[in-house]
Amino acid sequence: MLNSVNCLKRQSRCKIDRCYIMDVRSALNQAARDLENAGIPSPRLDAEVLMAFCLGRERLELYKYPDLILDERHLVTFRSFVARRKKWEPVAYITGFKDFWSCRLEVNKSVLIPRPETEIIVEEALNLCRLSAGRKISILDVGTGSGAIAIAMAKELSHARVVATDISAAALAVAAHNARQAGLAGKIDFREGNLFEPVDGFFDIIISNPPYIAAEEYAQLPAGVRDFEPREALLAGPRGTEFYELLINQAIEYLPQAGWLLLEIGATQEAAVSGKLKAAGRYDEISHRADYAGYPRVIRARRKS
Ligand SMILES: C[S@@+](CC[C@H](N)C(=O)[O-])C[C@H]1O[C@@H](n2cnc3c(N)ncnc32)[C@H](O)[C@@H]1O
Repeated sequence: MLNSVNCLKRQSRCKIDRCYIMDVRSALNQAARDLENAGIPSPRLDAEVLMAFCLGRERLELYKYPDLILDERHLVTFRSFVARRKKWEPVAYITGFKDFWSCRLEVNKSVLIPRPETEIIVEEALNLCRLSAGRKISILDVGTGSGAIAIAMAKELSHARVVATDISAAALAVAAHNARQAGLAGKIDFREGNLFEPVDGFFDIIISNPPYIAAEEYAQLPAGVRDFEPREALLAGPRGTEFYELLINQAIEYLPQAGWLLLEIGATQEAAVSGKLKAAGRYDEISHRADYAGYPRVIRARRKS
């Protein structure tokens, strides 16, 4: 009898030692330590986001219930998420979504995870649309990926004509799904192909956040980007500016007089891209806007009359 009681005690201690029982606070502390030891840049935040996702709660709710005991299922799931993050998989690929503008977008390894800086190009495009005072406007998003820019524009401008292209059929499937989820089924015309090949006609505003990483830089990218996000969404070529050259030269055929080209750029590319716009001789009103970290992030240029 004594033996079996001891055995039971041993079993329950064993369960506790192997941490089948743990409260939210302890699980978070342990995960944040593990992520920090793995060199992950925002260990606590990532642990909280993964825990909140695991529990189907808002992140701030975790602070209300730090003593909540996690059941074994949740603990095992949470630990599997943390293990993936320790290998640098981006949080958005683990949770399967990323918030952008006013939308929750599904993301997977076929699409670049939309970055907060990209909201600046949306703001700039909307500012230009406001100048057109109620006229029905047409917008083209080249290289739409998850659909982030096109979806944000279509959400804000219910009467605009929005067309979005991508060379990746898998990315377009994600974008179309995201448009449906955002209540925009049938409102965005998604087309597969190389840059402007799948479109015709004119667009008042052409927007693009193209691949802009140079080959040498690509090797230096953080592992979470280089090893997980699609190479064809990031890598432009040896110089990094190859897509800008194509976009600047080809967009002219699709812009009406005084139509706008808006390009997202890498932090060090402003001079090179402005230079290419000037050299093309077909654009005026060339200016740029910085992101919240102070880096030039968006260049806009108007087709000369
Ligand atoms: C930097 S990602 C931008 C994605 C999205 N617009 C965003 O801002 O999150 C570039 C996108 O361009 C697409 N792309 C690459 N080469 C292309 C090409 N030749 N024609 C059209 N799209 C292309 C990639 O598949 C990828 O989705």
